[in-house]
Amino acid sequence: MIHISPSILAADFSQLGAQVAEAEAAGVQRLHVDVMDGHFVPNLSMGPVVLDGLRAHTKLFIEVHLMVQQPAKFTAAFISKGADLVIVHHEVLEDARPLLAEIKKHGIQAGVAINPNTPVEALARYLPLIDLALCMTVFPGFGGQAFLPESPERITRLRQLIAAHNPKCDLEVDGGIDAKTAPRAVSAGANVLVVGTGIFRHLAGIAAAIRELQALNGDLSPHG
Ligand code: DX5
Ligand code: ZN
Repeated sequence: MIHISPSILAADFSQLGAQVAEAEAAGVQRLHVDVMDGHFVPNLSMGPVVLDGLRAHTKLFIEVHLMVQQPAKFTAAFISKGADLVIVHHEVLEDARPLLAEIKKHGIQAGVAINPNTPVEALARYLPLIDLALCMTVFPGFGGQAFLPESPERITRLRQLIAAHNPKCDLEVDGGIDAKTAPRAVSAGANVLVVGTGIFRHLAGIAAAIRELQALNGDLSPHG
């Protein structure tokens, strides 16, 4: 089963509640919230206040992708505002295990992300402890970038590691995913697809974009 996780970074923020409701009505089960601090990535985005507003409007599973230099400073705030999964970046943590344990202590899911230039093997030691491994398919910082061509090979390697260390762990991809690139990510082994521009800026509208991506469940079997 492939899950679509709309990234609200690409939404129209003046219509955020309505756009999330449209995605929910179209059948998605989760939402992706991109948090950027201007240090780990050269951009700023949103903080816990956005999650607070969203949580009052939706029961969707909310994942928080922390693209920040000091994730330990912010995890508690996002958890208190209703995050269901917190994803931290491997690149900023010498050893992510204490922070992952801290996140899990709150009874929510924990994930680790890696940038396109980090070897996927860096995730091996975390896999037994996490619910989701995020393989970035663009360099983080901005929506609307092109899917990096080396990604499928990385996804395949990560899927092999997951099979060996924790088969229940989700493999998520993030960046440049749309109806064209999604099949490549899914055939390589991804089972959760973050999609920003491909949903919120789709010319046919949010619901139609989601339906097109959901059709992948019929067209492709994961991990093939
Ligand atoms: C990139 C973010 C992504 C981004 C994806 O820094 O982590 O979640 O919103 O956007 P698209 O789908 O537009 O590439
Ligand atoms: Zn993201």
